[in-house]
Amino acid sequence: MKLSQKVVIVTGATAGIGWATAVSFAQAGAIIVASGRRQERLNALLAELPAGRHLAIAGDIQDPTFPAALVAQTVSALGRIDVLVNNAGVGQQHPLADIPREAVETVFNTNVLGLLQMAQAVIPPMRQQGGGHIVNVSSIVGQRPLPGGVVYAASKTAVNFLSRGLRFELKRDNIRVTTVYPGLTATEFADVRLGQQGVNRFGLRGVPAERVGRAMVRAVENGRSECYITWFDWLFSHLNRLFPRTLDTLLAQIAYWDNTTR
Ligand SMILES: NC(=O)c1ccc[n+]([C@@H]2O[C@H](COP(=O)([O-])OP(=O)(O)OC[C@H]3O[C@@H](n4cnc5c(N)ncnc54)[C@H](OP(=O)(O)O)[C@@H]3O)[C@@H](O)[C@H]2O)c1
Repeated sequence: MKLSQKVVIVTGATAGIGWATAVSFAQAGAIIVASGRRQERLNALLAELPAGRHLAIAGDIQDPTFPAALVAQTVSALGRIDVLVNNAGVGQQHPLADIPREAVETVFNTNVLGLLQMAQAVIPPMRQQGGGHIVNVSSIVGQRPLPGGVVYAASKTAVNFLSRGLRFELKRDNIRVTTVYPGLTATEFADVRLGQQGVNRFGLRGVPAERVGRAMVRAVENGRSECYITWFDWLFSHLNRLFPRTLDTLLAQIAYWDNTTR
């Protein structure tokens, strides 16, 4: 897909990966519809984008009426939707034994139901215009949970299955679906997650969000179904498929070491 003058909705555009992705698509010539709850951050993003008919539409993706409203306002203002980047998401860090039900609901309502409702909302206009592209932001941990963030990982595994299912169901409508598997990325994510926040016990920094944004632009331009950001993420994913028990043992050792050095 050539992105010049294409209409691209980016959810979770007020920070991190979503912000960087909106900038990357705009630099490729797209018209951005940026969404998230924080209106002032959306205004700041729009001020940073190259000139264009960009829009900011604030709202909470957990509100069951918001996805349809976001899509209706976009179609009414811009006439079409070419790409949806389903990026809004929230993390969590609690042992499963203690995680409160409200945290589980927030994670699944945001990462799974919100994402599915956004996809459902863009399908009718995309069908009507003869095609489109849905990009679902998963995570490398959707393929292999890490201790402490297992509910979050399960929500991303659900994203993987939804993506794959949508890809088959929408093929005849010429609607492509890409699943993106970022690894650790330098954003606000760990500072705003539910449960234990801001702790990065292994001192890892993560890749810049701009790198993830540029990878998503390339994935849409080239019609790719799956998108890894680094060779390490790709290797981790494939080793996990080939040697699942070896990785179980390795991760159990790391979790044990982490607990005993705490
Ligand atoms: N950072 C990582 O290491 C990493 C790794 C793999 C995958 N990911 C995934 O990448 C995506 C973006 O994460 P990030 O790292 O950029 O995190 P971030 O900096 O915390 O940004 C999260 C974005 O999601 C939005 N959001 C959260 N809850 C929302 C809600 N209820 N309604 C509307 N918007 C909501 C936030 O906007 P408001 O707060 O303004 O609503 C914000 O724009 C997520 O899906 C995350 O799971 C991140």
